Amino acid sequence: DKNLVTEPAILTAPPMVPPPITRDYSAKVVINLETREQVGSIADGVDYVFWSFGETVPGSFIRVRKGDEIEFHLSNHPNSKMPHNIDLHAVTGPGGGAVSSFTAPGHTSTFSFTALNPGLYIYHCATAPVGMHIANGMYGLILVEPEGGLPKVDREYYVVQGDFYTKGEYGEAGLQPFDMEKAIDEDADYVVFNGSVGSTTNENSLTANVGETVRLYVGNGGPNLVSSFHVIGEIFDTVYVEGGDLKNHNVQTTLIPAGGAAIVEFKVDVPGTFIIVDHSIFRAFNKGALAMLNVEGPEEPAIYSGKQADNVYLPEGSAIQTLDEDYIVAKANTKEEQIRFGQRVYEANCLACHQSNGQGIPSAFPPLAKSDYLNANPILGVDAIMKGLSGPIKVNGTNYDGVMPAMRLSDQDIANVITFVLNSWDNNGGQMSAAEVASRRH
Ligand code: HEM
Ligand code: CU
Repeated sequence: DKNLVTEPAILTAPPMVPPPITRDYSAKVVINLETREQVGSIADGVDYVFWSFGETVPGSFIRVRKGDEIEFHLSNHPNSKMPHNIDLHAVTGPGGGAVSSFTAPGHTSTFSFTALNPGLYIYHCATAPVGMHIANGMYGLILVEPEGGLPKVDREYYVVQGDFYTKGEYGEAGLQPFDMEKAIDEDADYVVFNGSVGSTTNENSLTANVGETVRLYVGNGGPNLVSSFHVIGEIFDTVYVEGGDLKNHNVQTTLIPAGGAAIVEFKVDVPGTFIIVDHSIFRAFNKGALAMLNVEGPEEPAIYSGKQADNVYLPEGSAIQTLDEDYIVAKANTKEEQIRFGQRVYEANCLACHQSNGQGIPSAFPPLAKSDYLNANPILGVDAIMKGLSGPIKVNGTNYDGVMPAMRLSDQDIANVITFVLNSWDNNGGQMSAAEVASRRH
């Protein structure tokens, strides 16, 4: 509609929420959102390659008004290895925008939709393997305000739960790859609010003052688990059930399905630390699903005991951070060093697709383990990394017809990662030199 006033969307990172919409007319709202793939911390000493909308998990909070026309620009950062797209549950249309927004690394897709229904909605990536993209953190919330807006409150915050699946157990230090089998089994190692254990605790807690009304926009990205959302020591005065129009009152715990949301409101009457949990309680105290709201004001009998907070701050089994000096890739002098450095290159660049055990993912990514394709001629592996690989190939008797993007890696890194792969997972051994790699560049 050409008659609409155009305005850019204000996007915020969690736990912040854009300001309420004050206009009483529909507008054309322009959204620019970028998908990223970057290493972040999922817990003390534990790193993970997050895929995200914006630079955070969950992605940027989007706030529009019923009747707004949204012009959506989805950009995929040039350093991404995967294509991504977006399915917004606020969209009325096939795939929620997924097909129209499918975006290769270094590209931008544009599509438009009108926000027909008010409510709080999840958005997420819907690129195959969908579960893997969601499990890596590709979700966030979009609020479509009703025409009259929402009742005024003193504080608004943005909290999204997600479950994560890692090769190592909870707290195991180092860079932890995604574990497809655990994800299929729904056997989560981490269940967290806002992307990491402790994202919203201690000095990063939500805050409010005694007497204020707090509204939480709560989402559940999943991919698998349903949240029993609860604030210890508080009762929700109002819950917008499943993020829709239905308002329930005086609720202790509200269910938030995977791919769903809820708005909860409560007045804080006494000071103290209020613990926000998934009341499937082992998730809270043993897998990270715990956040804090610090309420300040005139002293009242404590509702919450500090001891419980200590349990959380140093949960059993929490890992000690170890620095890994090999992380920075140096020139390797021996084959053993090449294998060691190559493993780092692999973890950062290859395992998202070929997996930590080199088994790949059936009918999507071929195995590097005992790969007849690679062992027959390791220089083909160099070419695949340097130039990308697409079109039909056969690996260990199975046909693949996918797209492997070219990797921007130094000759030494390519030599190291190939040497690592050749000496892993029952491959035939061998060594690749940086000079040999250099000879393949034209
Ligand atoms: C194929 C290695 C990163 C997706 C291959 C092959 C090798 C290889 C040796 C040949 C087939 C085989 O032996 O199984 C590597 C290494 C990587 C890397 C060392 C990191 C430096 C990636 C990434 C992706 C990917 C990040 C996904 C975005 C694929 C696909 C094929 C393939 C789809 C098959 C292509 C076709 O069907 O023509 N890779 N890869 N690879 N890789 Fe990678
Ligand atoms: Cu994605």
